[in-house]
Amino acid sequence: MITVTDDTTPATTPRFSDLALGEPLQRALQEKNYTIPSPIQAQTIPHLLEGRDLIGIAQTGTGKTAAFALPILHRFAAHPRRLSPKRPRALILAPTRELAIQIGQSFAAYGKHLKLSHLTVFGGVNINPQIHALQRGIDILIATPGRLMDLASQRCVSFEDVEVFVLDEADRMLDMGFINDVRKIVSRLPSQRQSLLFSATMPPAIQELAASMVRNPQRVEVTPAATTVERIEQQVCHVEHGQKRAALAHFIHAHPEGLVLVFVRMKHMANKLVEQLGKDGIRAEAIHGNKSQAARQRALENFRTGRSRVLVATDIAARGIDVKGISLVLQHDLPEEPESYVHRIGRTARAGKEGKAIAFCGPDERHLLRDVQRTIRQTVPVLEGLPFCSVVSAETLERDSSPRSGSQGGGRFGFRPARRGNQPPAHGRSGSRFGRGGIDRR
Ligand SMILES: Nc1ncnc2c1ncn2[C@@H]1O[C@H](COP(=O)(O)OP(=O)(O)OP(=O)(O)O)[C@@H](O)[C@H]1O
Ligand SMILES: [Mg+2]
Repeated sequence: MITVTDDTTPATTPRFSDLALGEPLQRALQEKNYTIPSPIQAQTIPHLLEGRDLIGIAQTGTGKTAAFALPILHRFAAHPRRLSPKRPRALILAPTRELAIQIGQSFAAYGKHLKLSHLTVFGGVNINPQIHALQRGIDILIATPGRLMDLASQRCVSFEDVEVFVLDEADRMLDMGFINDVRKIVSRLPSQRQSLLFSATMPPAIQELAASMVRNPQRVEVTPAATTVERIEQQVCHVEHGQKRAALAHFIHAHPEGLVLVFVRMKHMANKLVEQLGKDGIRAEAIHGNKSQAARQRALENFRTGRSRVLVATDIAARGIDVKGISLVLQHDLPEEPESYVHRIGRTARAGKEGKAIAFCGPDERHLLRDVQRTIRQTVPVLEGLPFCSVVSAETLERDSSPRSGSQGGGRFGFRPARRGNQPPAHGRSGSRFGRGGIDRR
């Protein structure tokens, strides 16, 4: 049975001090100036402290990381165990290396007054230090699935003692790009465990699979899945492809304060834009899956510190990444997966801040805009009056969005099933990263 909690506001706003979290955690929270738990934290932490399985849905930037990290740290601190080699007590899976690193940093920050150990493992770097660290023993393991499978197949990690299992960005982890690894990992976990799934989106097609990962879960939906953050001022700019460069430079120049994150669909396009922006007098860096791990981390770090104000990214930076000061998200291309739109724009307006998101929509991307609007259940206001903005009539939009229209390529792999909105897809799950023999272009 799934119990649903709605977002009814409690009579009094709870404070962290009202939650049954131990003193060392309370102290760490005070030092971070957190006093009021966010709704997802207030609504999930009590259930998690009771050991319940849980599916947690809340908008981007609303503190889902602490919602799962704090109860894990509390539980392990309350029931300490001697470290045993290769056997973590908690396993957290995340879809990208940078997100895994960030989650590790959150555990370090919240757990700074506790004697618990954590380790983050991910691909693209030397495996040996990870093997040695596992051998020494750790309490909390944060991992990307590929490297974790490598470590497991070399018998460098054992899941026998896992008490808590977390899928952050759960819908992505259950998507075709990861599901095989995730299934293998889950099959090795003890059946007696606590399982937690968190995301801002949960496509209907993934829900059944998600439900199969948890036992008698509490379901906490602070807002319906794929709800965008109200504080993001969203706009779409219809633009001919030849005009996207001018549009990009315009919006970056017109936005001199704050960090600007630009999303593109393809890796090669990220490099190309960095070069073009450079010629247009804008220093930018790129992050995508073809860069070395060191270059990826360096680009993100330079962006975090403001050394480069503009970062051009593929969807590897769309989910979970928390960089303070991003005030504008530009989408040079609309995403193939409508949920990505929610995550991409969610890199701004985090933790109560304001932000702006402008998406470019080329003539062959109108069906993608339609999919996004169905998914977010909103019409994105159209930006007009700038030299590069085309005016597109409602009839043209409608015509170009229809599946029979010749103006679009029919999806990334030449196959775009009718789907989304709140309708289940006609052909099972689809549109995934490696779907139908496709290649990963991120
Ligand atoms: N109770 C709180 N009070 C103040 N700030 C908070 C609180 N909880 C979390 N934060 C901060 O809010 C920001 C967003 O948190 P987090 O990254 O966990 O969001 P999220 O819900 O996981 O978002 P996403 O869906 O994008 O992954 C972080 O900078 C975090 O430090
Ligand atoms: Mg998150």
